[in-house]
Amino acid sequence: MISLKNVSKNYSDLSVISDISMEIQSNVIYGIIGKSGAGKSTLIRLMSLLENPDAGEICYDGVRVDNLKGKELLECRHQLGMIFQNFNLFSSRDVFGNVAYPLEIVGKDRESIRNRVHELLELVGLSDKSAYPISKLSGGQKQRVAIARALANHPKFLFCDEATSALDPQTTKSILRLVRDIRNKMGLTVVMITHQMDVVKEICDYVSVIDGGTIIENGTLKSLVSFPHTQIAREFISTLDPLEEKVLRKFPPNSRICRLHFGSESVMEPILSKIIKTCQVDANILSGTLRTVNDEPIGELVVEFIGAAENLNSAICELKSYGIMIEVLHG
Ligand SMILES: Nc1ncnc2c1ncn2[C@@H]1O[C@H](COP(=O)(O)OP(=O)(O)OP(=O)(O)O)[C@@H](O)[C@H]1O
Ligand SMILES: [Mg+2]
Repeated sequence: MISLKNVSKNYSDLSVISDISMEIQSNVIYGIIGKSGAGKSTLIRLMSLLENPDAGEICYDGVRVDNLKGKELLECRHQLGMIFQNFNLFSSRDVFGNVAYPLEIVGKDRESIRNRVHELLELVGLSDKSAYPISKLSGGQKQRVAIARALANHPKFLFCDEATSALDPQTTKSILRLVRDIRNKMGLTVVMITHQMDVVKEICDYVSVIDGGTIIENGTLKSLVSFPHTQIAREFISTLDPLEEKVLRKFPPNSRICRLHFGSESVMEPILSKIIKTCQVDANILSGTLRTVNDEPIGELVVEFIGAAENLNSAICELKSYGIMIEVLHG
């Protein structure tokens, strides 16, 4: 468990982290989300003992660690691994050399380094890239090397600072799956700093929202997404795609889910209630937004229409006749 008690950090007269207290239980994947400049990287540098707080205490499994020095600090650092957005690999070393580095630092012999590096490369799916130069790897492969290196000395904690921010959505998912698998296999505690709600939604068990150097909201992922109390949490949640394929499949066969795009001319009209009456369908509104573009209102609604097939068809025809663009998402 990682616990922070009343932790603060200033740079000159700028208060960057202000009186943060939190607990991160063992074995969880804990997300810390916030906007640029909120203090995320500073907080993770404090948690990972790269910097000292100006006030407060940091404990690992109940033992105070923020005041350690010299040999004790180095030993404590072996309990943790870190990965970053820009990978921080040595370009002068090949894949093997990068993963071997932390093992060399702690004085392991050549045989055990070789065995451990091969084990780690297998874990991250790069067994065939051992002799590759770093420059020949994709971003996702580089992050896999960084993960293997971070895990070399069997850390208890893995700290990730925007570890997927430089990767495309597919690669991001594969790296997040890898982190989750590793957590399950090795019983790691993972702290993920991010500004992407997609990352949090994909793997985090718990989430804190940080703003202006303080934690403004926290809880389980589900509780935060279901009942966000702050505007910033609501903004992050609004970036999530409201309907994924696997959710759509749960709707009954006699329902048709449509995304309706309203132009400024139709947005003010009670079209939906007209359709419900004239076509004898029920409508269940799943989500909706109204945006202002060039001072004109533009609407989007996701609606579940329920009814007989011919009624659903005529409802869609009628909606189109009002100039509404329709995407059928399901049914
Ligand atoms: N070493 C430093 N010296 C002075 N100010 C710093 C230092 N590190 C961070 N800051 C300031 O602290 C504040 C928080 O920075 P931090 O890097 O923790 O934000 P962040 O949430 O990680 O942002 P981003 O999403 O852009 O990475 C910023 O105002 C930044 O300018
Ligand atoms: Mg940062």
